Amino acid sequence: MTADLFSPTKLGSIALKNRIAMAPLTRNRAGQGNVPQLINAEYYAQRASAGLLITEATPISATAHGYPATPGIHDSEQVEGWKQVTAAVHAKGGKIVLQLWHVGRISHPSLQPGHALPVAPSAIKPAGQAFTYEGLQDFVTPRALSIEELPGIVADYARATQNALDAGFDGVEVHAANGYLLDQFLRDGTNHRTDEYGGSMENRTRLLLEVTKAVVEVAGADRVGVRISPLNPFNDISDSNPQALFNHVADSLNPFGLAYLHVVEGGMGGDNLPAFDFAALRRHFHGSYIANLGYDKAKGNAAIASGHADVVAYGALYIANPDLVARFQQDAPLNAPDHATFYGGDAKGYTDYPTLQG
Ligand code: PHB
Repeated sequence: MTADLFSPTKLGSIALKNRIAMAPLTRNRAGQGNVPQLINAEYYAQRASAGLLITEATPISATAHGYPATPGIHDSEQVEGWKQVTAAVHAKGGKIVLQLWHVGRISHPSLQPGHALPVAPSAIKPAGQAFTYEGLQDFVTPRALSIEELPGIVADYARATQNALDAGFDGVEVHAANGYLLDQFLRDGTNHRTDEYGGSMENRTRLLLEVTKAVVEVAGADRVGVRISPLNPFNDISDSNPQALFNHVADSLNPFGLAYLHVVEGGMGGDNLPAFDFAALRRHFHGSYIANLGYDKAKGNAAIASGHADVVAYGALYIANPDLVARFQQDAPLNAPDHATFYGGDAKGYTDYPTLQG
């Protein structure tokens, strides 16, 4: 029998009851101190029929933050808050991994400890504006990290991974996508370093590999995924040769034996994307593959049947359809997502989307 979205599978040692994942989604509804609340547990538990839930991007340190009310994984109160989430998801038979996040230059002094400058591979200001507690404010020129500071960043990832395991997560996903810190190191548009972390593709990939190694040492490779977005221009990111770069990234990740590689197969806003061969990228990676962006049920099933993807992640559809698995199974109509309530607010547009049962 051919596998489809409803077939069980395993990503590393994480057993999934189906191949439908909830993509990581920033919702800006953490409480004081960026601590997860009961309402966040309710939101994830409502979606626990997914084969795998991937949390919203979760800052690994105080300097990793770039948006209001994003739940962290760097202090004990946050770990306690996340325990409510993992317990609620596990009580419903779900699996959940935490996405480890450092925003790099996509931040603002008002969101940084001591109102310091955000950090980045190089002192290059992104175009656009930061979302702050005081509204939109222009991005600033970040401070380039010194080479001596990089082991500390790697250590922050390792400690956040231990915190995630302590909080009861089934694994972690390293966020190397969407123009945040690790992606800023990968790309030659944002990485102008002249040390061993800049220049060649090998050098630009170095920090990602060091972070992955450190995270794997804590969690085990069979509980670690990595997310990349080769084409996404989001957050003013660019590279002169994304195909070569990300083929190299996939090759370099192979020796770890990771649970999965998760690929954003397009751009979030912005047209005129260069050509990119995701099938070629997929062939470079020898482990399991999660495909994301622009999939519906038919495209998801086709990607699994063809062997392109092992699991398909759904984002906006999961915001609006807590019972997406049942709706796909029954070919039931889907709720439309309400964009006005994506980022911040309360239960409206968060935990109040109806299921087929009402
Ligand atoms: C966002 O907050 O808009 C956001 C966060 C993480 C992503 C993408 C978008 O990977």
